[in-house]
Amino acid sequence: MSKLLIVDDDAGISRTLQLHYQSQEFEVSTANCVDAGVEIAHTFQPDVIVLDIRMEGKSGIEGIVDFKAVSPQSRIIMITAYHDMDSTISAMQEGADEYIHKPIDIDELDQAIEKALQYHASTHQDVVAIPDSFGRSMVGSSHAMKEIYKTIGRIALTNASVMITGESGTGKEMVARAIHNAGRREGSPFVAINCAALVENLLESEMFGHKKGAFTGAIADQQGKFELACQGTLFLDEVGELSPQIQAKLLRVLQEKEFTPLGGKRSIKTSARIISATNIEFEQALEDKTFREDLFYRLQVVKIHIPPLRERQEDLEALIPALLARANKELGTHVSKVAMDAMELLCAYPWPGNVRELENTLTKAVALCPGDILTSDLFDDLRVDRNDSISLEPQTDLSLQDMEYRHVLQILESVGGHKGKACEVLKISRPRLQRILESGVAH
Ligand SMILES: Nc1ncnc2c1ncn2[C@@H]1O[C@H](COP(=O)(O)OP(=O)(O)OP(=O)(O)O)[C@@H](O)[C@H]1O
Ligand SMILES: [Mg+2]
Repeated sequence: MSKLLIVDDDAGISRTLQLHYQSQEFEVSTANCVDAGVEIAHTFQPDVIVLDIRMEGKSGIEGIVDFKAVSPQSRIIMITAYHDMDSTISAMQEGADEYIHKPIDIDELDQAIEKALQYHASTHQDVVAIPDSFGRSMVGSSHAMKEIYKTIGRIALTNASVMITGESGTGKEMVARAIHNAGRREGSPFVAINCAALVENLLESEMFGHKKGAFTGAIADQQGKFELACQGTLFLDEVGELSPQIQAKLLRVLQEKEFTPLGGKRSIKTSARIISATNIEFEQALEDKTFREDLFYRLQVVKIHIPPLRERQEDLEALIPALLARANKELGTHVSKVAMDAMELLCAYPWPGNVRELENTLTKAVALCPGDILTSDLFDDLRVDRNDSISLEPQTDLSLQDMEYRHVLQILESVGGHKGKACEVLKISRPRLQRILESGVAH
């Protein structure tokens, strides 16, 4: 039998609620002020406390800590006639789990109590522990990831250029950094450049630098990323988007190991290691002749493909705790466990946005988590999409931003991760696509 404690100085309300919940097989106690309630809670150990705010003596909000002290597992539902923002915020900050306005809508209270009891059920099931700390290293022990670690180990000390392929959010930049960090180049710079983010002229000057007066607006000499990366690693993200002109220039740099800044006379030597990444099917770009074959082979001396997360779901077991530890660190929270049913929900979802989407979802859940255990109700959004595809059925509980994000992921998946093609289908600009992807599932 579930135990309920009602603390309200309005005897009428207490009595009505008591009768209602007794008829639903609850064991119910009542109190008319915080101090009396705390005394009862001490021995009664209720599963749920329904707590009024304005009462004689201590207010309900002040009482939250006292109740938590004597009966820490109790879930607290505040009820109040006050609709102001400040008391709602302070109640949630003090550790209330739900906040319901008077006049009480009994269905709403039923639901809140039901949810609180579900939480108890989750805390009694097995849990997965979240580690206290998390380094920046990669996790995952699927066959594919193990092969990737091996390749990184083999090539880190060489100068071979590497091409990393994989859908959006699979961890391409992370692999590039791992190669850099494991190599001799540790301590030297890792310089990233997004080939799709800039228009051609700017990109050229960004890569190779320019001299003062090289073009209108070039008011001072500027070092290019090739120069900045000199002994280190230059990471060319979304390399498939390079224009023919820059492809030609890049090929010359790779052949001659030197380049000339825009408007410059003298060439500069470079021994930067080149790691590129792309989420497009290169075969197609080569066939269409939009990407030079000779450059392609220079960039792809070694190829590393990162499969989408849905093809290596066993990695979720390690990724989830690791990403949660990272979220705790970023948010300053201390969520320490994941309930097994939440874990199952997370593992069954296909993650079209790959590790990045997983990370966004987990960070959001940690931010909203009321206690120290992540329960499955925090992942209700994932239930709709269980059948390996994203449903486009109208959903009544999704924000426009969520809908937009999901739609973008679905389109990206349908075009094999090719962002350019996704933009064409969606009829939006590249930066806008990027912004939507970065916004993640934020509400
Ligand atoms: N194996 C992994 N272990 C831990 N974290 C990972 C792993 N793979 C990816 N991540 C994390 O997921 C996020 C996305 O990774 P990353 O930016 O490297 O992906 P990407 O393939 O470059 O994505 P995009 O195509 O969108 O640029 C990052 O926060 C990264 O730290
Ligand atoms: Mg990236």
